[in-house]
Amino acid sequence: EFHLHPKEVSFASDGPLGKFDRQQLQRGFQVYKEVCAACHSLHQVAFRDLEGIGFTPAEVKAIAKGWATEVPSVNPDTGEAATRKGTPADKIPAPYPNEVAARAANNNANPPDLSLMAKARHDGGAYIYSLLSGYQDQPAELLKQFPDAKTPASLHYNPYFANLNIAMPPPLAADGQVTYADGTVATKDQMAKDVAAFLIWSAEPKLENRHAAGIAVLGFLLIATILAYLSYRNIWSGMK
Ligand code: HEM
Repeated sequence: EFHLHPKEVSFASDGPLGKFDRQQLQRGFQVYKEVCAACHSLHQVAFRDLEGIGFTPAEVKAIAKGWATEVPSVNPDTGEAATRKGTPADKIPAPYPNEVAARAANNNANPPDLSLMAKARHDGGAYIYSLLSGYQDQPAELLKQFPDAKTPASLHYNPYFANLNIAMPPPLAADGQVTYADGTVATKDQMAKDVAAFLIWSAEPKLENRHAAGIAVLGFLLIATILAYLSYRNIWSGMK
């Protein structure tokens, strides 16, 4: 009863005719890069995939080269583990080398990969938006009914998270946490919406092709139906 369904929120990609808003996807990517990427990997996405949200090949190259985490590699002379700068062909590097390191940095919680999060959770885009904008104090009613359910010091109350207490500290804590390249005012709500839109894209970058294919199929079926009807009329036209 204290766990809430995701909030009502709409995205440009919603519905059978939906298309991505590429300005929004770029803003969402900026939030991922400057905030979420400190803890969460996005291992299904290669830098060059970002051309799909409107970056030019030169911009992609610069993004890959400047990424905060370098790409694991080996020293060609010694064979020892090393790192190198990213290239467009690399997957976006994870913030931690492995799960042990990830847990060590996060109070023993493991920040999940975000590539497919929008598909992994029901109503994923709205869920991500709600989760990010849903941190709040525990309701007095809950503590009255379940005194033992008090949020432990290392967790954070969030009614959109299935078990109500989440290990992730509120990542979007202040308006203006990022400064958007396109001049959009970066309220907490705006950042939450934009990064949710970006993660809808990362989970299904070809969504627009699927929508377009659906429309083409319906058009074909409509024409085929008209033709079938007309030939039916034609074939039976002599019968009175
Ligand atoms: C979990 C998104 C930033 C640490 C999650 C989940 C999502 C998410 C969708 C999964 C919730 C679920 O399982 O249903 C984001 C986004 C961020 C962000 C979009 C940026 C705006 C961060 C940061 C940290 C962090 C900066 C580290 C300081 C974690 C941890 C979990 C988690 C530890 C696991 C929580 C648990 O299982 O209790 N995050 N996150 N996240 N996140 Fe983040």
